[in-house]
Amino acid sequence: MTPTTIIPPGKMENPSPAKASAPGKVILFGEHAVVYGRPAIAVPVIQVQAAVEVRRDERSVPGGLIFSPQAGLDDRIEDLGPEFWGAVVLRYVCQAAGLEHAPPFTMHIRSTIPVAAGLGSGAAVAVAAIRALAEFLNLDLPLEQVNTIAFEVEKIHHGNPSGIDNSVVSFEKPVYFERSKSLEILEVGRAFTIVIADTGKPSRTSLAVGDVRAGWMRNPEKYERLFDEAGAIAAQARAAIERGRTERLGALMNANHAILQAMEVSSPELDRLVQAAWESGASGAKLSGGGRGGNLIALPGPRAAEKVAMALEKAGAARTIVTEIARSKS
Ligand code: PMV
Repeated sequence: MTPTTIIPPGKMENPSPAKASAPGKVILFGEHAVVYGRPAIAVPVIQVQAAVEVRRDERSVPGGLIFSPQAGLDDRIEDLGPEFWGAVVLRYVCQAAGLEHAPPFTMHIRSTIPVAAGLGSGAAVAVAAIRALAEFLNLDLPLEQVNTIAFEVEKIHHGNPSGIDNSVVSFEKPVYFERSKSLEILEVGRAFTIVIADTGKPSRTSLAVGDVRAGWMRNPEKYERLFDEAGAIAAQARAAIERGRTERLGALMNANHAILQAMEVSSPELDRLVQAAWESGASGAKLSGGGRGGNLIALPGPRAAEKVAMALEKAGAARTIVTEIARSKS
């Protein structure tokens, strides 16, 4: 990785505090199949955020102290081992800055993104931490490089991530993502609203991804066919979003959910809430992310988002978020 800006001497002695935040995300189409090279679509969710502040205070130590009451962290980064995500962030950001060691710092983390819920909590904390640490070191890190480092962190969290989570969170724009192709920012022809509902059941993405891999190894033909179908749906959804034909997305969500059920990553809780979304008038609903728990998304009819959200809460959703995917500025 090539350094972008080398810190001028003197700046290091008294660096000013640096703050950065990053949004959550949901996958609209193509989860799991995206790990196998098919396209997928994800959008940022600004209603939930991770916020990181890096500063020098009385608790700061060389090598950095990390503090997150939510995650139960109050540790020296070096005590958490080289595979700890914060150590990976520190290593890559220092490398980009051309530094062997960072000056003493404390990293404070706060997040409103639920963990293990398919909302990109790990990617958002990583992106906010990378940006805050880079700024603390007076390093001007381009988004591509933030994304590359966040992908290294995702590997720690998920083993074999596709890279979609870190991409959508780094760029904070809707993305059409295909592994091993360059990232495409998705043009949105007409704004549309989705309802996100949390089953309240945490689910580790790595387990669902591992089970899909086991299923694929047992029955490659079945899974390849499902991946192809999911990829075709993502491509159709892209065209609908770009052309502003968002009324088509409901049927595509339903078809994608059926594929995810066939991949065995849905759950009774998700299926029950998908049913409740349909009954309240949503034209489509599907699980979003790793599955087995976590969140689902629903496409409400015009001006019916609150009604669908209330019906989902009544049917047992732990919480709902109504979010608008804004029209792209031309
Ligand atoms: O982090 P989650 O739960 O939103 O899942 C990410 C989507 C998967 O396709 C299941 C995994 C991946 O790396 O793309």
